[in-house]
Amino acid sequence: MDKILFLALIVLLLVPCRNAEPKFSPEFEGLGELENLDVEGNGEEEFEFLELPSWESDRASKILVNVDAFGAAGDGTSDDTQAFVNAWKQACSTPKSVLLVPEGRRYLVNATRFTGPCADKLVIQIEGTIVAPDEPKNWDPKNSRNWLDFSNLTKVLFQGGGVIDGSGGKWWAASCKKNKSNPCKGAPTALTIDSSSAISVKGLTIQNSQQMHFVISRSNSIRVFNVKVSAPEDSPNTDGIHITASTNVILQNCKIGTGDDCISIVNASSNIKMKTIYCGPGHGISIGSLGKDNSIGIVENIVLDNAFLRASTNGLRIKTWQVIFLSPESSIICTHILILVHLRTEGKSGFCREDLVMCVQYATKM
Ligand SMILES: *[C@@H]1O[C@H](CO)[C@@H](O)[C@H](O)[C@H]1NC(C)=O
Ligand SMILES: *[C@@H]1O[C@H](CO)[C@@H](O)[C@H](O)[C@H]1NC(C)=O
Ligand SMILES: *[C@@H]1O[C@H](CO)[C@@H](O)[C@H](O)[C@H]1NC(C)=O
Ligand SMILES: *[C@@H]1O[C@H](CO)[C@@H](O)[C@H](O)[C@H]1NC(C)=O
Repeated sequence: MDKILFLALIVLLLVPCRNAEPKFSPEFEGLGELENLDVEGNGEEEFEFLELPSWESDRASKILVNVDAFGAAGDGTSDDTQAFVNAWKQACSTPKSVLLVPEGRRYLVNATRFTGPCADKLVIQIEGTIVAPDEPKNWDPKNSRNWLDFSNLTKVLFQGGGVIDGSGGKWWAASCKKNKSNPCKGAPTALTIDSSSAISVKGLTIQNSQQMHFVISRSNSIRVFNVKVSAPEDSPNTDGIHITASTNVILQNCKIGTGDDCISIVNASSNIKMKTIYCGPGHGISIGSLGKDNSIGIVENIVLDNAFLRASTNGLRIKTWQVIFLSPESSIICTHILILVHLRTEGKSGFCREDLVMCVQYATKM
């Protein structure tokens, strides 16, 4: 398994995947539209407050909210959940605050919802490690699918050299993918950004998640730079970055190696730009699955510009469920797929699971 795929490709695609009569036929403007979708600079110009070199050089005007000041022990074994909750309340309600998770320490934090709206210009500076309790049996059933869940935020910057560690080992062992006699149950996502807009995430490492590592859902204008995601190749369903019902998302310079898709993009997502993505080990970059139970699934305007795939079972794939009753008006439609600069590869560019229809068309190759 040491295949190296080098994908230098730009894909623009529209995937209405449905069993009803397609109502969806936007004009395809080809290359002109592609250029507009390309990632210019690093996308930060849209957020004035991000132009500050870092929170440190601007300390005077920032209010530091250190989790240690709220009683966090940072020893990796004491329960720091309440300290994080209290620090969040303070930081969220104070303009220009920096919620600091200090370097060199490990903070054990239970499943927690960090909800906005917050006061202006919140920075979440993670330098240390935030670690999840490792025992699935003690997990809070009210948060069965979430560990660190951030929602309803606007203009928030997450940054730092720190680590978010899901301690997923026991969850993986309890997965039905590992042992057929285990029940098939969903496990938590390590980091979720939900119902939010104008969010930047820079430099963090997310690792060993219980299931998916980083989910972006129901959000708009999200920038992810220099984020690293890592989990063992045999950890089940540990997608790297999963995008659902979100628009205007840029993922840039991310290194992702897990046991499932590096990036997956599902229903109701559009204007997603991925630039310089290092993927592997893993299952590649996926659009879908779409169309389960004859549902409508639409993913539009996806650009992938430079991906380096190593030990990846696939390159880019579009996964659609089979439509059971096919008629001329009811079908899976993949249109406007444009690939510029094709693969230099010994690997595969697509792969189907038995229950999925592979849907990849190469309209243009250059
Ligand atoms: C964190 O989870 C543990 C284990 O379920 C529980 O005993 C503890 O009370 C939780 N901490 C908080 C602050 O809820
Ligand atoms: C989200 O924020 C808006 C204000 O921006 C508020 O009205 C709404 O109640 C919040 N929703 C939740 C679920 O917290
Ligand atoms: C699978 O799980 C069952 C029941 O928990 C256990 O008895 C068995 O040893 C496990 N098999 C493997 C290969 O771990
Ligand atoms: C897909 O997204 C559309 C638009 O948000 C929604 O109406 C539809 O129910 C979604 N389909 C599924 C299967 O969730």
